[in-house]
Amino acid sequence: MTKVTMTVNGKAVCGEVEGRTLLVQFLRERLGLTGTHVGCDTSQCGACVVHVDGRAVKSCTMLALEAEGAEVTTIEGMADADGGLSSLQQAFQDHHGLQCGFCTPGMVMSAAALLAENPRPSEAEIRGYLSGNICRCTGYHNIVKAIMAASGQDVSAIAAE
Ligand code: FES
Ligand code: FES
Repeated sequence: MTKVTMTVNGKAVCGEVEGRTLLVQFLRERLGLTGTHVGCDTSQCGACVVHVDGRAVKSCTMLALEAEGAEVTTIEGMADADGGLSSLQQAFQDHHGLQCGFCTPGMVMSAAALLAENPRPSEAEIRGYLSGNICRCTGYHNIVKAIMAASGQDVSAIAAE
């Protein structure tokens, strides 16, 4: 077992992990941050996306030890300071960007990373960026709409599905 130390949602955390422990396992099983989901074992679904030093990362593809010293943000760290939904999360709710919600933490984390690097993405840019996030419920349409709305764009031209 090896000691790992990182900052998660603004708090310093540490723990003993095996060399094979994945970051997602450390977050969920050691820290109890179960908002980060595991939807596959093939690195395809994106339900496990978190931010590592500001980059969107599939936390099932990274060892916990590789995050040594990193700043990690999970969906639990996305709420506003008062604990309410962030504007991006609110947009998902307002535009029905979720149904079962299983993919939603990963979608929100990927969308937040996109908006950080591209504050007004086009519909095509959003769809391209989310190509690593799979949703089995929504057909993606309302997710795209929510992200466009969160970035202050007019979504009235996007036809209702
Ligand atoms: S759990 Fe599916 S990509 Fe990580
Ligand atoms: S809302 Fe169910 S998988 Fe996306």
